[in-house]
Amino acid sequence: MPLLALLVLALVAGSYDASVPVRTVRSEPTQDREALLAFVAAVPHEPRLRWNVNTSACDWAGVACDSGRAAVVSLRLPGVGLVGPLPAGTLGRLTALRVLSLRSNRLSGTIPADLALLAHLRSLYLQDNLLSGSIPATLAGLIRLVRLDLSANNFTGPVPFAVNNLTRLTGLFLENNRLSGSLPSIGIASLVDFNVSYNELNGSVPTSLERFPASSFAGNLDLCGGPLPPCKPFFRSPAASPMPVEGPVEEASKKLSTAAIIAIAVASITGLLLLMLLLLVICVLLRRRRRTKRRTKDMTAKRLESSAVAAAVGRLGDTGMTSSSKEEVSGGTGVEAERNRLVFMGISGGYIFDLEDLLRASAEVLGKGSTGTSYKAVLEEGTTVVVKRLKDVAAAKPEFESHMQTLGNVEHANLLTPRAYYYSKDEKLLVLDYLPSGSLSSLLHGNRGGGRTPLDWESRMRVALAAGRGLAHLHTAARTVHGNVKASNVLLRANDLDSAALSDFALHPLFNPAAPRHRLAGYRAPEVLETRRPTFKSDVYSFGVLLLELLTGKAPNQASLGEEGIDLPRWVHSVVREEWTEEVFDVDLMRYPNTEEEEMVQILQVAMACVATVPDARPDFPEVIRMMEEIVNRTEGDEGLRSSPAGPAKGGDVGGAAIPTADGP
Ligand SMILES: *[C@@H]1O[C@H](CO)[C@@H](O)[C@H](O)[C@H]1NC(C)=O
Ligand SMILES: *[C@@H]1O[C@H](CO)[C@@H](O)[C@H](O)[C@H]1NC(C)=O
Ligand SMILES: *[C@@H]1O[C@H](CO)[C@@H](O)[C@H](O)[C@H]1NC(C)=O
Ligand SMILES: *[C@@H]1O[C@H](CO)[C@@H](O)[C@H](O)[C@H]1NC(C)=O
Ligand SMILES: *[C@@H]1O[C@H](CO)[C@@H](O)[C@H](O)[C@H]1NC(C)=O
Repeated sequence: MPLLALLVLALVAGSYDASVPVRTVRSEPTQDREALLAFVAAVPHEPRLRWNVNTSACDWAGVACDSGRAAVVSLRLPGVGLVGPLPAGTLGRLTALRVLSLRSNRLSGTIPADLALLAHLRSLYLQDNLLSGSIPATLAGLIRLVRLDLSANNFTGPVPFAVNNLTRLTGLFLENNRLSGSLPSIGIASLVDFNVSYNELNGSVPTSLERFPASSFAGNLDLCGGPLPPCKPFFRSPAASPMPVEGPVEEASKKLSTAAIIAIAVASITGLLLLMLLLLVICVLLRRRRRTKRRTKDMTAKRLESSAVAAAVGRLGDTGMTSSSKEEVSGGTGVEAERNRLVFMGISGGYIFDLEDLLRASAEVLGKGSTGTSYKAVLEEGTTVVVKRLKDVAAAKPEFESHMQTLGNVEHANLLTPRAYYYSKDEKLLVLDYLPSGSLSSLLHGNRGGGRTPLDWESRMRVALAAGRGLAHLHTAARTVHGNVKASNVLLRANDLDSAALSDFALHPLFNPAAPRHRLAGYRAPEVLETRRPTFKSDVYSFGVLLLELLTGKAPNQASLGEEGIDLPRWVHSVVREEWTEEVFDVDLMRYPNTEEEEMVQILQVAMACVATVPDARPDFPEVIRMMEEIVNRTEGDEGLRSSPAGPAKGGDVGGAAIPTADGP
């Protein structure tokens, strides 16, 4: 499902946005609804595309309506397993449709003719299907089209010259088909992205398309010229290459002189005629201009009105919900567009995409956390990022922006730095790197009962040290409180436990401190319950709970005062007070033959120091890391190089040597 659709769904669910007045009476796009139902009934698809007939069509997954909920304006069903031909007489009835995305399905057959009836269509994404036949010239009737993507299908025949009718097109993607013949001269000034690579085209690249790179034309049968190697002289125009002259040379020169006289005569007559024509045209234009002046005034008024509408709908416009109308926004209210863009920070992770690309990305929910919902978004060109939708942000835009710029400059291998943000009145998004291996929490608790082997002690310590180094950097170099240390914010990179990264740092200044954040509860220091303000010392407490979690294998209490959970520090205290036993340790750890029990006891002591009730009794964080490294290195020194544990030490290739030995004996 595209990220946009998920965001729309969440918005429709109305979970938090109190600023949008709730409509009690909702109108329903009755005719569009029938067209949609006819469409899904005619095309087999995956069961997860289930539209509830008892709710409004406007609330269905992938469907978006106009602000009056009178018509469907966008239908996005990418990758939902649609199979078979596109039925005629269904989608063509969605007359107000502006965005149609059916990409990445298994649709076959030809493009139905009635698609050309969608006069308001701005974006048509049909790429990555099995569509065949020729590109219908009737598509040229969709004169409002801005993006047309038919790539990665099985289209044959020529590229129709009629695409020139699409004067607003900024992107035309026809690559990876079986289009043949020569390229027509496409003179659309607004065209920014153009791709016809990997087809069966031949002939020369027209001058109007020479500005596009060679990769736009690669992999064709026999294309030449422009950015490609020059065409064989045979194709070059006669003027450029000397033609073999017939007959004797003298005759030719004599002929030339008479020809020249005729040419001069013709030229002067033509020139005179042209001059007269020009005068005539000027006269007509002047007359016409006077006549149309009034009409132009009317049109300007109308345009102003429509941009006022855009501002009124601004709540959605702001959020980029009408991403397809981006060109309108930037055309109409340029300032608005500038203000509501995706802002990259720091080194920006080397990403190049904009808000429109992001909203178009296919997305899935990764998780709902205390700070908001995270989505995994796969952009159309394949980049994967995490988009975090922050909820209950209280910070005003200037504070938000300056805070983000600060965070964006924090760079450390063990910290997951946000790469970009988006701020509007109703939407605050953060873009982060996507780490494919999940969180420490899922690694630790997600595999119980299943066939997978639990995490061994050495692996746990390596992740803890990695996260700890990130936190130490945050506390010392960046002088920043994390505020949300927990196992689900420790993310793992593929096959390298030592590069685990701590995410979600320093977001607490953005939120309303009064808002309840239950999910933090299990890790939250007791004093934060009252002050509601995390400190360096409360980070230390949270990290202590994390260590206890690694030692005991028990997830800390997730609901603040819940019954089923346990208050981990209190539980450990009670066990330890009664008798210094190995009762507290994770039974899964004890199954490994060479688990360092002594090391575990020492780490337990560090953890207990971290979770001291009085903040001042807790060590500073750099001290915590120093103690942990010392403990690990000491046991290493005692036994020489630790043999690799029998367990599944993920990324065990790096071994204990990766742990710095600066403080070692
Ligand atoms: C829709 O409503 C009908 C009766 O009102 C009910 O039988 C049916 O289960 C509902 N369908 C869904 C998908 O909720
Ligand atoms: C080209 O656009 C005009 C309107 O600008 C439209 O009337 C005409 O039908 C279009 N041509 C084709 C071939 O669709
Ligand atoms: C494309 O069409 C040809 C026939 O025109 C067919 O043989 C081929 O299997 C099709 N390819 C795909 C991927 O459907
Ligand atoms: C391109 O290929 C077609 C056949 O597919 C052929 O008829 C035509 O002459 C070729 N054009 C050029 C310029 O080679
Ligand atoms: C065109 O498409 C091909 C194949 O997908 C791709 O490799 C190439 O980079 C694209 N070129 C441009 C300019 O987008």
